[in-house]
Amino acid sequence: MSGGGWVRGVGIIGAGYVGLTLGVFLASKYVRTICVEKDEEKVGRIMKGLSPIHEQGLPELLRQVVEDGVLEARTEIGDMFEEVDVIFITVGTPTGSDGSPDLSQVEEASRQIGNALAASKTGAPLIVVKSTVPPGTTWGIVRPIIEKTSDRVCGKDFHLCVNPEFLREGSALQDTMNPDRIVIGTKHSWAAESLKKFYETLYNPKKIPMLITSPTNAELIKLATNAYLALKISFINLISQICEAVEDGDVGVVAEGLGLDPRIGPLFLRAGLGFGGSCLPKDLRALKWFAAGLGVDASLLDSVLAINGAQRIRVVKKSESLLGGLRGRKVAVLGLAFKPGTDDVREAAAIEIIRELLARGAEVRVHDPAALDNAMRVLGGGVTYCQRIQDCLDGADLAIISTEWPEYALLDPSTVMSLMHNPIIIDGRRILDNKRFREAGVKTYTIGLYQ
Ligand code: UDX
Repeated sequence: MSGGGWVRGVGIIGAGYVGLTLGVFLASKYVRTICVEKDEEKVGRIMKGLSPIHEQGLPELLRQVVEDGVLEARTEIGDMFEEVDVIFITVGTPTGSDGSPDLSQVEEASRQIGNALAASKTGAPLIVVKSTVPPGTTWGIVRPIIEKTSDRVCGKDFHLCVNPEFLREGSALQDTMNPDRIVIGTKHSWAAESLKKFYETLYNPKKIPMLITSPTNAELIKLATNAYLALKISFINLISQICEAVEDGDVGVVAEGLGLDPRIGPLFLRAGLGFGGSCLPKDLRALKWFAAGLGVDASLLDSVLAINGAQRIRVVKKSESLLGGLRGRKVAVLGLAFKPGTDDVREAAAIEIIRELLARGAEVRVHDPAALDNAMRVLGGGVTYCQRIQDCLDGADLAIISTEWPEYALLDPSTVMSLMHNPIIIDGRRILDNKRFREAGVKTYTIGLYQ
């Protein structure tokens, strides 16, 4: 049985966060799904029903859909068009050396699709670009590559649209199951209508707001959304610096007050060590690069990036001044993932902070409930990796909370007092009850708090 209405099956090129989560969700809705992924090890894991990423709810559902034979992973696209009517492109678009997004994986996926299309005998499939790409990419790069390699015509022999993804890591499956909007960009009404129908069947009886527009608008909506979220975070972090310098200043209260204005809203106003991850920094750089190419002054985006970087350095400088120098001092870093609920350390605040601490001669010990392995791949052997929070804090001169994992909010001041050599905590994510710790004798420095 297929749950996708007119769709026999779906192909997904790239089994990263977006592709794999989408695949597992579709398969859970009884849509036959084939993930094409060039990383053989990843394909092997998926076929054993094991999730290659740490994501709530994903391992259980992945195992189930693989066991049920609804989802499979392959390394080659082969003759997939004999089995599927829709193909999603969900490959990565990392920042290239000049700040532009590296579209090589999107181009390669388009070539693979074109070749498979050339060999196929079935009807016109729908190709959906879900990777985050600069405005103009879907129609100006993806479409000509597919047309050239397949010798088929867009809008007749195959259909094309762009459909950006807005899921968040840590709640990827939940977000895919309950999107708050669907944006579809295309120049052909058949493509928009068929994808709309597919989603309506999948999400039935929920009614998800859908916006159908041009490919460039859809592409821009994605970049602008992430840039705006980053802007909100940097704005509140700027306010946090002001709060630290004015008597009784508390950015938490200021953010609460700001959020009460319905035109501003309460979300994405958590001050701290700023934004990391695979999307916000990358998409901000992509938008900056794109704007520059058009001659648009995007210095606002430069400031957003600069404030984000400054939050991290401020914490290192604060550690240095609190300890009177970092050389030979033992610093515990609690949290490596760029946010809780994930093992992803890409552009994580902790990684940058650790590198700075090491450069200034500190001995660094780290803990994270999920991201130790990934951090080890990035940082190598220069730091001590601790499985337990206690081991990380034991004998430390200073601790920095860099990810707001719930277990760190449960830290007990008396444990901190007994374990640390110097009970000083820098709360980079504002999760501790500052007063309680101070009363117990722990010296604390909280971002955005006058002290
Ligand atoms: C983001 C977008 O939210 C999502 O829509 C898009 O599809 C991908 O990029 P994600 O990177 O998973 O999702 O994380 P998000 O929850 O947006 O957080 C990004 C970063 O901002 C994290 O490092 C987080 O700690 C930080 N953040 C978030 C803050 O510092 N303050 C906030 O108020 C919110």
